[in-house]
Amino acid sequence: MATERTLSILKPDATRRNLTGKINAVFEEAGLRIVAQKRIKLSDEQAGAFYAVHKERPFYGSLVASMTSEPVVVQVLEGEGAVAKNREVMGATNPAQAADGTIRKLFAESIEANSVHGSDSLENAAIEIAFFFAQTEILP
Ligand code: TYD
Repeated sequence: MATERTLSILKPDATRRNLTGKINAVFEEAGLRIVAQKRIKLSDEQAGAFYAVHKERPFYGSLVASMTSEPVVVQVLEGEGAVAKNREVMGATNPAQAADGTIRKLFAESIEANSVHGSDSLENAAIEIAFFFAQTEILP
């Protein structure tokens, strides 16, 4: 399998509860390497644009409000099949359906406050990485 990069976000519910290190340990133990990372506060415009695909969904306004409520940690993860590997360790969107040992099963508070975001395809990963990082900020 090829080496890939994917965009990960540790959401406000995770930064608020001081879970950055514990979640990063799950990534690293799964063979994902954190090749870029920064802690930022998303603006309404940034969060709205990032989740634009969900604009018509009933949860959009609440999702944007929750993503801007506290700082987030944005990251680039690199590894063999990183997009699928990250989705696997994140677990299902709804923590009630997430498999044992996954980040969302371990840490998520609710379907909205579900601790992590991860790109869902290689194509979206490239778009989402470019949304937050310059090439010079990614250091393998
Ligand atoms: P989605 O892209 O479906 O899930 P994932 O994050 O697993 O790729 O949804 C994006 C985010 O929107 C999700 O992480 C949390 C939020 N969300 C809700 O708040 N309510 C919902 O019913 C759904 C489906 C998602």
